[in-house]
Amino acid sequence: MALMEGRAGFVTGAGAGIGEAIAKRIAAEGASVVVADVDDAGGERVVREITEAGGTASYLHVDVSSEDDVRAMVDAVVERYGTLDFAMNNAGIGHLPVPLHEMETAQYDKVMAIDARGVFLGLKYAIAYMREHDIAGSIVNTASGTGLKASKGLTAYVTSKHAAVGLTRMAAIDYAEHGIRVNAVAPGSVKTPQMVAQPADIVAGYEALMPSKRMARPEEIAAAVVWLLSDEASYVSGDIVEVDFGYLQAG
Ligand SMILES: NC(=O)c1ccc[n+]([C@@H]2O[C@H](COP(=O)([O-])OP(=O)(O)OC[C@H]3O[C@@H](n4cnc5c(N)ncnc54)[C@H](O)[C@@H]3O)[C@@H](O)[C@H]2O)c1
Repeated sequence: MALMEGRAGFVTGAGAGIGEAIAKRIAAEGASVVVADVDDAGGERVVREITEAGGTASYLHVDVSSEDDVRAMVDAVVERYGTLDFAMNNAGIGHLPVPLHEMETAQYDKVMAIDARGVFLGLKYAIAYMREHDIAGSIVNTASGTGLKASKGLTAYVTSKHAAVGLTRMAAIDYAEHGIRVNAVAPGSVKTPQMVAQPADIVAGYEALMPSKRMARPEEIAAAVVWLLSDEASYVSGDIVEVDFGYLQAG
């Protein structure tokens, strides 16, 4: 029995990397998925690949920092698939390390808008629909190890991911009595196409940093997400699942 048969929802940032792997795995588990991204070509490619593999998916251009876009995304899931019972707030951007006092305020605002406000909006509109229709749905947010620990030079990213962790914990306790579960995954370093496109010595540095001496494959993050979204995790909420082969615990 597929883990998400008959379910419907969205994955943000699903046009590449971790979000792409999550959308593909969720669709393979029987769910209908709105693939949401600002990269239209990437999102449409992922939909094509899901459809060719026999899954159900459709693309929507969504900037997760836009309240109108996020509201429209929830409406689109319901219009296209009849309900919304899961949400995956995955879209996020990073930035190069820079001391706090040298960080451009506009850059700080942009990272916070996508990585923190985007998660807030995704939670707000998905939960509003679930409450209105008395749906005990499940939501996962993509945080990061940097949501639980500082990392030199990454002021905006670390702050935004701490916010994603706080939002996860808050939503989990606020809606527990309605059966809505909210969790986050906290990946370490993940071998996405964008990560691999960096100079070879930087990639090797990330691999060496991991206790496992390798980065995660995006599919390994997707496996944790699909478990959290599914009924297999029916008593798990408010959890930040570290998917990093012990990296955070190693110090
Ligand atoms: N790759 C890693 O090592 C790693 C580690 C920990 C956490 N994460 C987190 O995982 C998530 C996915 O990262 P990734 O590595 O797959 O990145 P990626 O850059 O490969 O993919 C991110 C996707 O999000 C989309 N996106 C960017 N801004 C958006 C916006 N405003 N609205 C909608 N979509 C937007 C991009 O177009 C892209 O398709 C992010 O939240 C990231 O912070 C990544």
